[in-house]
Formats: sequence, C-alpha cells, structure tokens
Amino acid sequence: MMENACLSLAPLSLKAERAQWRAADVADWPEKKALPRWLGRKFQVQVLSQLYHGERATLAMCRQLKAKIDDPWAQRCLDFQIMDEERHARVYLDYLAGIGELQPLDPVLAAAYERALGWSGRPEGMIAAFNVILEGEALFALDYLGGWFRCPLFARINARIRRDEARHLAFGRAYLAETLPQLPLDERLEIHRWLKALWQDTAEGVFRRFPVTNLFLRRRCRTWVETGWQDHLKILKDVGLLKDGEIHVGERT
Ligand SMILES: [Fe+2]
Ligand SMILES: [Fe+2]
Repeated sequence: MMENACLSLAPLSLKAERAQWRAADVADWPEKKALPRWLGRKFQVQVLSQLYHGERATLAMCRQLKAKIDDPWAQRCLDFQIMDEERHARVYLDYLAGIGELQPLDPVLAAAYERALGWSGRPEGMIAAFNVILEGEALFALDYLGGWFRCPLFARINARIRRDEARHLAFGRAYLAETLPQLPLDERLEIHRWLKALWQDTAEGVFRRFPVTNLFLRRRCRTWVETGWQDHLKILKDVGLLKDGEIHVGERT
C-alpha cells in the first residue's frame, strides 16, 4: 500500500467524527411527516425503499473496502461512513413506517450494485463507482426529491443526510486524488473502461425501466443518460484517473 498516501483525509475524518448524529434524534424533531397526495403513495414507498437499499449497498462496499485498504485515515473515514450509512438506512426505514411496506430492491439497481461490489481490481475502482458516481447521483436525486416530497420532516432528514453524503463524496475524491495518479496507465484505463460500461448500462437500464410519459421530462432524462458520463468523467479526470492525452486512448478502448 502507498505510504503516507492519505494525510489529506485527516481533517475529513475529524469532521466526520464531529458531525455524528443519532437516528433516534429524528423522533424528537418538531417537523411533521406530511407528504403531498399528488405524488402517489406507491411512488413514495418505491423511492424510499430504493433509498434504503442504496444505503445498504454502500454499507456493503464500505465493509469490503475496509478489508482492502490499510491506510489508517482512510480506515477511519470508512468507519464513520459505516456509521453514517447505517443511520441513513435506519432513518429511511423509520420514515417509511406508516406510509407503506418496504419494497424489494429494483433489479436494475440490484445489478448495478452487484457489479460494483464484484470489482476485483484495486480499491480505487470501487471507491470511484460508489463514492464518486453513485453518491454523486444520490445527492442529485435527493435534491430533486426534496422538491417533490415537500414534507417538512423529509426536508430536515434530507438536509442531514445530504451533509453526510457530501462528506463521503469528498472522501472519495480526496482518496482518489492521492492514489490514482500513482497507478500505471493500463490500470487506470481498466478502471475507466469498467466505470464507463457500468454507468452506461445502469443509466440505460433505469431509463428503460421507468418510462417517463411527460415529453419534457423524458427529454431531460435522455440528456442525463447521454451527458451524465461526461460529467462523472470530468470529476474522475480532476482526481487523476486519466490525463487529457490519455482520455482518447481510454475512449477508444
Ligand atoms: Fe448514505
Ligand atoms: Fe454515503
């Protein structure tokens, strides 16, 4: 493992320690659960169930990574992330109580998590898949959902969870920025190829599985499928996955 690789993670882990909160605290918050009727119970239950399963998948990723990474600061960040994701899963489940029953994990997302968890290469691949791409998408989705749910309690939960997720994203970027540039080109290209295929298959799968009838929304979703990878690639380039000249090699392969 790379010596002294992740000193930049020290402040992040301290921040994570200070930012811990308890799932049980939510019961004492004055905000009430009030979901808009127009959104439809079934849809709400489905979304909350998928958020719950997403937390569980991330938890599984953290546990796998802990066995693969021996940098002490990264270990500490992962310990706090495990506490965070456990808390998030609990909070979503509690919130779901009284709205509907937990629904099974969606098959498209199940396949994506399974593929991401099945990565057998260096830990950087898995961190990029979960802590950069999936957490990035989750933050984006939470922004959207906050606007749709318009529930005071969900808004407060959302704000807390977003803060934790932003830290996970920062951990992923900081870790990758320290370690990726030290990897040989062929390993970085392999990670790039795998991530790109994972992203494209999942985005297409989600797009096909949830047919949006509203034309305007459908166009926006199509744009997301087409440009989403470029957005993620930009961040991955920033943390050293590929340099400009190398991108073309990566794109061709
Ligand atoms: Fe989470
Ligand atoms: Fe997270």
